[in-house]
Amino acid sequence: MLPVYQDAYGQAMLDHLLGDVGDVSVERDDGYLEGDVGMDVYFSSANDWSAHTRKAMKLVQGRVLDIGCGLGGWRDAMRRHCPDAVYTGVDASPELCRRYGWRQGTVSGFRSRSSFDLVVCRSVLQYLPADEVRRGVENLACLCRGAAYIELVSREDWERNCDRTATDGAIYRRSAAWYRRTVGRCFTNCGGGVFLPKDSDVVLYELEKL
Ligand SMILES: C[S@@+](CC[C@H](N)C(=O)[O-])C[C@H]1O[C@@H](n2cnc3c(N)ncnc32)[C@H](O)[C@@H]1O
Repeated sequence: MLPVYQDAYGQAMLDHLLGDVGDVSVERDDGYLEGDVGMDVYFSSANDWSAHTRKAMKLVQGRVLDIGCGLGGWRDAMRRHCPDAVYTGVDASPELCRRYGWRQGTVSGFRSRSSFDLVVCRSVLQYLPADEVRRGVENLACLCRGAAYIELVSREDWERNCDRTATDGAIYRRSAAWYRRTVGRCFTNCGGGVFLPKDSDVVLYELEKL
């Protein structure tokens, strides 16, 4: 589990929440350095999400695991759009867990007696070392009995697709091919960020998978 003194991300989010918009800079153990990392993007309300994301929220049912849940934007959206779904938020940050009541755990280490209909892992994997991503993806597949929603920023996204003024660049810039291979060992990619575990009994037509 992450000790409090390493929980820079959780601390930065809390500082921001409490009105401290001071500079945040990142210095990682692999030598990566970045100054002036914005936190605003993580505080946007579910009302600001795209229309198709809000529409998709209405389809969510059952047990939902949000791993690396941060401030719990998904919980808030689910309360509004699919109040019958049961939400479990998990985060590595002891500060965020204490403040919001999440279960403390990591993508690779979190265990649960029962599995989940939807596993959400949004904007987390790009911050983790390669080995944690590999083990994390295997764990997500074990936790998932329905579908997973995995969103991350790859190197190509950083170079070509994202709005750099609104996206955190303090990430491991791994290629999309690397992520496809790593996630693809345990999941079938259905497009749109939706993945089915390899052992899923859902029948997909050929053009429904990538
Ligand atoms: C960029 S935030 C994303 C938060 C949320 N998923 C969202 O989309 O708004 C990344 C979150 O991942 C958490 N985190 C970092 N390392 C983690 C790990 N190994 N396992 C689980 N969560 C982790 C951080 O504490 C932080 O809350």
